[in-house]
Amino acid sequence: MTTASLLKAAEFGALRLRNRIVMAPMTRSRADAAAVPTSEMVDYYAQRASAGLIVAEGTSPSADGLGYCRTPAIYSAEQIAAWRQVTDAVHARGGQIVVQLMHCGRVASRHNKPAGSRTLGPSAVPAQTELFTDVAGMAPTEAPEAMSREDIARTIADYRQAALNARAAGFDGVELHCTSGYLPMQFMSENANQRDDEYGGSADNRVRFAREVLLAMSEAIGAERVGIRFCPANRFNDIADSDPAATYSALLRSLRGLNLAYLHIMRAHSSRIDAFSQARAEFDGALIVNDGFEPDSAADMVASGQADAVSFARHYIANPDLVERIAGGATLAEFDRKTLYSPGPQGYTDYPSLLEEMA
Ligand SMILES: Cc1cc2nc3c(=O)[nH]c(=O)nc-3n(C[C@H](O)[C@H](O)[C@H](O)COP(=O)(O)O)c2cc1C
Repeated sequence: MTTASLLKAAEFGALRLRNRIVMAPMTRSRADAAAVPTSEMVDYYAQRASAGLIVAEGTSPSADGLGYCRTPAIYSAEQIAAWRQVTDAVHARGGQIVVQLMHCGRVASRHNKPAGSRTLGPSAVPAQTELFTDVAGMAPTEAPEAMSREDIARTIADYRQAALNARAAGFDGVELHCTSGYLPMQFMSENANQRDDEYGGSADNRVRFAREVLLAMSEAIGAERVGIRFCPANRFNDIADSDPAATYSALLRSLRGLNLAYLHIMRAHSSRIDAFSQARAEFDGALIVNDGFEPDSAADMVASGQADAVSFARHYIANPDLVERIAGGATLAEFDRKTLYSPGPQGYTDYPSLLEEMA
């Protein structure tokens, strides 16, 4: 099987991809304690700039939205200035880069958040899970405050401002993180969301928050620079939904006519949902598919018209030149699990390209 289909250029809204190999968002915990991107992150993304599009790791739109240790944010002037170094380095190498906006909502430890920040959720229902903190090791999540209507409006405004900040930092666009049990998916679930207003109850009501965030960001920076990521039936971080197919259909319906740059859809965590076919049939924009692809299976998705691009996460950890390796049919390197989230350059920026290896 040839991988030529992956090497063709594409336009997704205002995004100009020189190939259809997308770097999927990956939290790597290399920001500093104030959620400011570090110089190691500049090197890391610059090394991977030959991707058709980089989706930079989950990044918080606000102090309230932080939850994990050493994850970046994009609400302060210092954070924006540091991200500018990243985007400049990627653009200097001809790449495109959007940032994934990730609000953790109730999946948060106070050890990982600035003093004075709040932990919010659709309802006051804690997530039954633990997460890692630098100061106390594994820790339970905070009990969230149920969001008032004012909290919802302010949080949507935070996303809107974060989208503007992303553009000020030089990003080509933003991606809404709408899976893995973070705030938008908390609204979409039946356990975290026990509201009886227009944000709770029916599937159409539970997808309302995500839609309003997308609308606000689109209004601020243009829908042609806004994407969304979703994984149907994903139960990660204590998400319960008795009918994820209905929720996924409601989400797809709610996206109609928004003219988003793309939908980044992951394989469903349920054999009853064919996430890719349904997205192709019901979504009116570009489709990036993800989860478990190898170069051949990815090329087949694009060649057969089932997707416009394919994103790779794990293969990007140890293969900074993944595009060149796929183009040349080279063997892919394996990554080391131990250094996925550890601070410092080890297991982060020290994976060589093929050219560096030969030198
Ligand atoms: C270390 C690591 C961190 C991740 N962080 C994020 C993240 O911040 N946001 C997100 O949407 N997905 C995240 N993911 C999921 C990946 O983007 C991707 O969906 C998953 O690894 C499957 O794709 P793959 O088979 O190409 O690795 C992460 C995955 C890994 C391995």
